[in-house]
Amino acid sequence: MPIAFSHARHAPADVDVLGVPVAQGEPPGPGAELSDAFLAERGFEAKVGETLAIPDEQGGTVIAVGVGDPSAIDATVLRKAAAAFTRAAWKDASIATTLLDAAPPGLDRGVAAQAVAEGIGLAAYRFTRYKADGKASRIRSAVVAGSGGAKASAGVERGARVATAVNAARDLINTPASDMTPRKLAAFATDVAKREGLDVTVWDEKTIAKEKLGGLVSVAKGSDEPPRLIRLEYNPPGARATLAFVGKGITFDSGGLSIKTAYGMETMKTDMSGAAAVLSAMSLLPAFAPKVRVIGIVPATENMPSGHAIKPGDVFAARNGKTVEVLNTDAEGRLVLADALSLAAEAEVDAIVDLATLTGACQIALGLKIAGLMGNNDGWIDQVRGAADRAGEAVWHLPLPSAYRKHIDSDVADIKNVGPRYGGALTAGLFLQEFVGDVPWAHLDIAGPARSDDEDGWTVKGGTGFGVRTLLETALKFKKP
Ligand code: BES
Ligand code: MN
Ligand code: ZN
Repeated sequence: MPIAFSHARHAPADVDVLGVPVAQGEPPGPGAELSDAFLAERGFEAKVGETLAIPDEQGGTVIAVGVGDPSAIDATVLRKAAAAFTRAAWKDASIATTLLDAAPPGLDRGVAAQAVAEGIGLAAYRFTRYKADGKASRIRSAVVAGSGGAKASAGVERGARVATAVNAARDLINTPASDMTPRKLAAFATDVAKREGLDVTVWDEKTIAKEKLGGLVSVAKGSDEPPRLIRLEYNPPGARATLAFVGKGITFDSGGLSIKTAYGMETMKTDMSGAAAVLSAMSLLPAFAPKVRVIGIVPATENMPSGHAIKPGDVFAARNGKTVEVLNTDAEGRLVLADALSLAAEAEVDAIVDLATLTGACQIALGLKIAGLMGNNDGWIDQVRGAADRAGEAVWHLPLPSAYRKHIDSDVADIKNVGPRYGGALTAGLFLQEFVGDVPWAHLDIAGPARSDDEDGWTVKGGTGFGVRTLLETALKFKKP
C-alpha cells in the first residue's frame, strides 16, 4: 500500500476518510471542523488511540483520533494513534490523516512523520496467504498531510519502508513451518541480499558440521529438514565499527524428545521470530545507510523428535570448544545461539545484539508485551534500551546474576543447558554469556512480544515483527560501547 506525503494542511479532496487529531483540552484538528461539544456529547475523551467516525455531508467520513495529553505527544503516541485510525478506516479505499500536525514543535518533523507512516503501514497488515477471501484491507492508498516539507516527506518515505520490512518479517513468522523451513528462510535471505545489495553466505549441513557448529548440528539431528547457517553483511564505505545481529531461527520447536504438549506446540512456527527480525532489519540498512558495518547471523533448524534426535544426557562440543550437556532438548534455542554468538565474537565485532524467543519464563516475568533485555555491558545495554524506546518497542532490563551461574554447572560437561524452574530467563541469558567472550553483548528475550493474540497499538494478531525497528535504531545511532 503506497503511503504518500502531502504539504496540504487539510486532506486531498478525493479521499474517503480523513483522520483528524484531537488532543485533550485543545480544539480538534487541523483538517475538519469538529466541535468539542459534539465530541464530548458522544463520550469521546481523546485518549490515545480512541477513534470516533463521523459521516460528513459529501458522503465521506471524518474520524476523530485521540492523541491524549498534548504535552505528552511523542513518536510512540503518533504511531499508536495512526494505527488506531487505520483500523477505524479499514473499509475505506483511500485514507488521509493530519495527525502529523498534532506533533509538538519540539518533535523532529521527520521523526513524527515516520511514526505516523509506520503506524498506518503496520496496522494495515493482515496475513492472508492461505485464505480464499484474503484481502489485507480495503485501503489502497494513504496520505500523511501536514507541515514539515522535505523533512516530513522523507520521514513518510522512511516510515513506509520500515513498515514494509516489518510486515515481511511478519509474513516469515506467520508462514506455517512446513512452508518456512531452514532452506526457505535461507532462500528468502538470499533474495533480500540480492535485492537490497547485501553480501550473503549460506552454510549447508555439511559446512555446518565441518565448521564445528556443535549446537546447531545437535538440534538439527532429529529433523528430516537440513539446517542452514545464514550470514548477511552490510559493509558501507567508511564504516568505523562493526555490529553483529544474531537471531534465533528455530523454524519449528516441537521440544525434541523433551517434547512439548500439543498446546505448547501450537504457536511454535513462530520460534524463528528473532531470525525474521534480523533478516528484515538487515534489509533496511542499505536504504538507511548507517556508517557502521553490520553482520547478521541466523542459525536455522527445526527441533524435532526422531530416532536420530539428540537425547537428554547427550554431550556435544560447541563452536568455541566448550562441552554442553543437554538435559532438556526443549532448551534448544540457546544451543544454536551458542554457535552463532561464537561466530560473531570470532569476527571481532565491536558489539553483539541477539534476539530470541528463548524462554516461557520471560513471558511469566514480563508478560506478553515486554521483552527481557540482558547483557554483559551496561553502556551497550543502555544503547539498545534507548533504541527500543525510540522504536516504541517495550523492553525491560533483567539481571544476569553471577550467583546463579552455578545453576548451569554440569556433572559431566563444562556446562548444562537447563537450570532450575525459577529465573529461567536469566539462566538462559547466563548460558548465552558463555559464548560471547568479552565482546559487549545484549540479549533480547522476545518470547512474549514476538507474537500477539490481539490487536494493540501497532501490533496485529500473529507475528508482530518485534525487534526490527529496535535493531534499525541501534545501527543508526551506534557508538562503540
Ligand atoms: N521456544 C521456546 C520458548 C517459548 C515458549 C517461546 C513459549 C514462546 C512461547 C524455547 O525453546 C523453550 O522451549 N524454552 C523452554 C526452556 C526450558 C526447557 C528450560 C521453556 O521456556 O519452557
Ligand atoms: Mn524449545
Ligand atoms: Zn524454542
